[in-house]
Amino acid sequence: MLIALFPGDGIGPEIVAQAKRVLDALAIDGLTYEEGLVGGSAYKAVGHPLPPETLDIAKRAEAILFGAVGDPDCDSLERHLRPEQAILGLRKELGLFSNLRPAKVFPELAHESALKPEVAGSIDLLIVRETNGDVYFGEKGMRTTADGLREGYDIMSYNEAEVRRIAHAGFQAARARRGKLCSVDKANVLETSQLWRDVVIEVSAEYPDVALTHMYVDNAAMQLVRNPGQFDVIVTGNMFGDILSDQASMCVGSIGMLASATLNGSGQGLYEPIHGSAPDIAGQGKANPLATILSAAMMLRYSLNLPEPADRIEAAVAKALADGARSPDLGGTMNTVEMGDAVLAAL
Ligand code: IPM
Ligand code: MG
Repeated sequence: MLIALFPGDGIGPEIVAQAKRVLDALAIDGLTYEEGLVGGSAYKAVGHPLPPETLDIAKRAEAILFGAVGDPDCDSLERHLRPEQAILGLRKELGLFSNLRPAKVFPELAHESALKPEVAGSIDLLIVRETNGDVYFGEKGMRTTADGLREGYDIMSYNEAEVRRIAHAGFQAARARRGKLCSVDKANVLETSQLWRDVVIEVSAEYPDVALTHMYVDNAAMQLVRNPGQFDVIVTGNMFGDILSDQASMCVGSIGMLASATLNGSGQGLYEPIHGSAPDIAGQGKANPLATILSAAMMLRYSLNLPEPADRIEAAVAKALADGARSPDLGGTMNTVEMGDAVLAAL
């Protein structure tokens, strides 16, 4: 089973290295790895953020373990050459449309949350974010208005097939959890969202056992800090899911803790921490590798069908935290490698 390792930019190499140590320690038969260049580091080395060799590894792999992309040196490049195009390109080229972002509080970290500990303690939710469409992938550009003003535009759209498949992903996830699905949209303003809502309601007929509710995205942002315990599964579009998942990470304590999986229809998946490349702390050993280690656990569970070692990784992370492992983002002083050591010791 081939795993593509794409460390990327900034802290990416440091955190992926720790996840690889944990995978190696599990000594799982039949895993092989191929490393590829992505993001700003790929652009600097070979002139493109998602080189053909990298895409080829991705297409052949069962799963991709991804670090992060983003490099301030590249911010003024033409958009198609910017580091972010690596992750967007992989999502599109591989049809990775179903982005699962779980957010759950580790009891030891409840006091790190931006919320009151008793509110934070209730968080156990999953954001199912669509990642193949929406304003991210619509026609975009710069133009000049009739009055000679510069104007930027990005077209937001979803067709019903795109909404239907992510709605099914949301309902199935809810069915496997506490049976509650909240669909987040902006149907009071956007036609895209009205279609979204109509299609989600149509699909709900196939899931009578799941309790469906709808919420406008502004209200959802407010409810996530007011009473996050009310959510089980949230299903939403690309843009709203991007924003709400960063917000959810601070509700659980640190963006350094949230793992994610992005799946296509055939079980292939890309696994990455939800945080970015953090260029301000790159190379200093300050990054928390736990989100990436937890992403590796999701990879074993969802793409490689290996639930036992996935459970072992998650239990080891919980134990390392219970034993006091803390990187700077969690209020501690341990460096990236020491955090990896703590997980290995717990394993
Ligand atoms: C994420 C990131 C990406 C996104 C960026 C890096 C393109 O913020 O995975 O949440 O916006 O999807
Ligand atoms: Mg994001």
